Amino acid sequence: MQNLSLWKSLNGYLHDAAKSLMRGFACNSPFQNIRVAMYRKAGVNIGNLKQLGGHVWIDLWGKVTLEDGVLLAGHSFILTHNWIGNVKIAPVTIKRNAQIGLKAVIMPGVTIGENSIIGAGAVVTRDVPDNAVVAGSPARFLRWNT
Ligand SMILES: CC(C)(COP(=O)(O)OP(=O)(O)OC[C@H]1O[C@@H](n2cnc3c(N)ncnc32)[C@H](O)[C@@H]1OP(=O)(O)O)[C@@H](O)C(=O)NCCC(=O)NCCS
Repeated sequence: MQNLSLWKSLNGYLHDAAKSLMRGFACNSPFQNIRVAMYRKAGVNIGNLKQLGGHVWIDLWGKVTLEDGVLLAGHSFILTHNWIGNVKIAPVTIKRNAQIGLKAVIMPGVTIGENSIIGAGAVVTRDVPDNAVVAGSPARFLRWNT
């Protein structure tokens, strides 16, 4: 019995380590198709993206969905867990044709609406409606993306 639980913990550890390794390849590959393939293998739900930039860091704790036409510029972060402050694990969804600027941070639990734009360096702490342009930290509404 003890051997079984030891095996289960070891198996879980190896599984997490494999996923982290895949994320390492996904973040650092110069090729977009490798980045997408590695994140898919690690469990991220990825549609037919417009762009997945280099060094995009996607959290593997919670569910992440990137719908068709999404653009994630380089060095953006998608977080699904938070051990600091309000501890939580929560999914992130980025809907069709949304565009995320360089170095933006999407916080756990956030849904980004269709056709919206997130400014470079934004920290998105709340849901963004469809067709909205937001920027800043915390991200605030700038205008509609018409
Ligand atoms: C957010 C963004 C889309 C806004 O573009 P825009 O509608 O043309 O807005 P403007 O440049 O006219 O700026 C409007 C206001 O928002 C502010 N602003 C613009 N971008 C901002 C940003 N990233 N963060 C914070 N404030 C920003 C401007 O300072 C301006 O403020 P003011 O009215 O007080 O002067 C754009 O600035 C941006 O960040 N694009 C993403 C760029 C990127 O990462 N590209 C990736 C390469 S593929």
